[in-house]
Amino acid sequence: MSAHPSSGPEPERALPRIGIDLQVRKAGTADVALIRELAGRSWHAFYPGMISMPQIHYMLRQMYSPRRLQADLLRGAHYFVAETGDRPIGFLGCDPTPEPTHASGQPLVLQRFYLVPEFQGRGYGAVLLGWLEEHARGLGLDRIRLRVNKHNHRALRAYRRAGYRLVDALIEDIGEGHVMDDYVLERRVAGSPGWRRPGAGP
Ligand SMILES: CC(C)(COP(=O)(O)OP(=O)(O)OC[C@H]1O[C@@H](n2cnc3c(N)ncnc32)[C@H](O)[C@@H]1OP(=O)(O)O)[C@@H](O)C(=O)NCCC(=O)NCCS
Repeated sequence: MSAHPSSGPEPERALPRIGIDLQVRKAGTADVALIRELAGRSWHAFYPGMISMPQIHYMLRQMYSPRRLQADLLRGAHYFVAETGDRPIGFLGCDPTPEPTHASGQPLVLQRFYLVPEFQGRGYGAVLLGWLEEHARGLGLDRIRLRVNKHNHRALRAYRRAGYRLVDALIEDIGEGHVMDDYVLERRVAGSPGWRRPGAGP
């Protein structure tokens, strides 16, 4: 897979099917409006009650403005659209940039992972996390790292089931009086040094 930004969807280079009715394709700049729409639907259905409405609006503006998404794609961040049939149901965004805090190995950093409400809690997330692991392995990366709100119990369940473990907790000031209150989770890519099968004993 190319690390270079593309100008649009690449159906001819779509990633392999990962389930009977689920496909993942790399997003390009032509998908910016779609990603914004999917993010807005997911955030407005899921985050009220967990974070304040002003913070939801602030973060959507910061993270999903057309300018920010274009900049993410141009600096090499990878966005992927998940589709069932021709219907987009969510997206992932990840960044293979190495993080200097790790002495060994480099993580794939999962920055965004959102399904539209009607496709949450139906097993699609688990399939996509399996796809993500294959993607990390294909990039030669030995672990996946992500951040999740400490009160996001559904996502925490999904990640724990998929073998992610707590490595850190942080509170980040993101401006205008808002903070992100997150856990940092990681899992080893299967087959990499230090990997243990999820659920295996010590
Ligand atoms: C986090 C998220 C991507 C996880 O995706 P998901 O599809 O909900 O997660 P899973 O695949 O693990 O879902 C499993 C759930 O589906 C249920 N399920 C129903 N049918 C299933 C099937 N055929 N196979 C597996 N699980 C199934 C499971 O019982 C489980 O329910 P539970 O979580 O109440 O125990 C999704 O919930 C989401 O978009 N949430 C809102 C945004 C968000 O929080 N993003 C993460 C930010 S860090």
